[in-house]
Amino acid sequence: MKPQDIRVRPSADQYHEFTSSFTRPWDELLIERAMDEYGGAATGTLVDIGTGTAALLLMLAEKKELDGWKMVGIDYFEDMVDRGRAAVSEAGLADRIEIRREDAHATSLPDECAELVVSRATMHHLRDPAAAYAEVYRLLAPGGVAIVHDMRSDPPADVLARFNEMRARAGLLPTIVEEKYTLEEARQQLARAGLSERSRVATSDGNAALGYEALIRKPAAG
Ligand SMILES: C[S@@+](CC[C@H](N)C(=O)[O-])C[C@H]1O[C@@H](n2cnc3c(N)ncnc32)[C@H](O)[C@@H]1O
Repeated sequence: MKPQDIRVRPSADQYHEFTSSFTRPWDELLIERAMDEYGGAATGTLVDIGTGTAALLLMLAEKKELDGWKMVGIDYFEDMVDRGRAAVSEAGLADRIEIRREDAHATSLPDECAELVVSRATMHHLRDPAAAYAEVYRLLAPGGVAIVHDMRSDPPADVLARFNEMRARAGLLPTIVEEKYTLEEARQQLARAGLSERSRVATSDGNAALGYEALIRKPAAG
């Protein structure tokens, strides 16, 4: 059975410690995919769902291709939001990056406000991933793309073993694979959101084999 709500969650400080030292290969993977998909526009809005302490947004903000882009990170938990805002202020990026306290299932952001939506390691925390996928689609501007990365429940044994060794070096317990989803389950969630035709779920090799990517495209207007 999947969790109905978030049960065990690290504090913002613990989470920041982990992301600043151990998630770099997966940060790079998502940033690379965002740069593949951003479409070359000089301006736009990027939304990060479940932004945590905003580490990924700060890395994305360093990309010169995204210089003219505004970014919005949303997270449900106040300590994450506070820590994320502090990190953005320290980086002198408060005019470009807004961190908001919002629920990924139903945000107060306007329809079609984002050309690019990203989300990492968040879907498996949510009570209703299908509702969150529908919300992501609502936020996408016509022609927009969402890139959602999450860990899968059935990664190859050697990849999982390497990941858990990394966690052990960080003083963390092995990851709980049972709370994650398979690629097929992610496809079913997208189907429940009415997005089968507009999405694809895939994995790859190397570090990417630890998880999957759900890519959602909204057709361009007209
Ligand atoms: C594993 S962390 C990932 C954080 C960040 N995306 C990263 O990759 O570093 C999952 C995040 O989802 C957030 N979260 C959980 N439930 C949420 C909800 N209903 N709405 C928005 N964020 C949520 C948590 O507070 C946490 O920051």
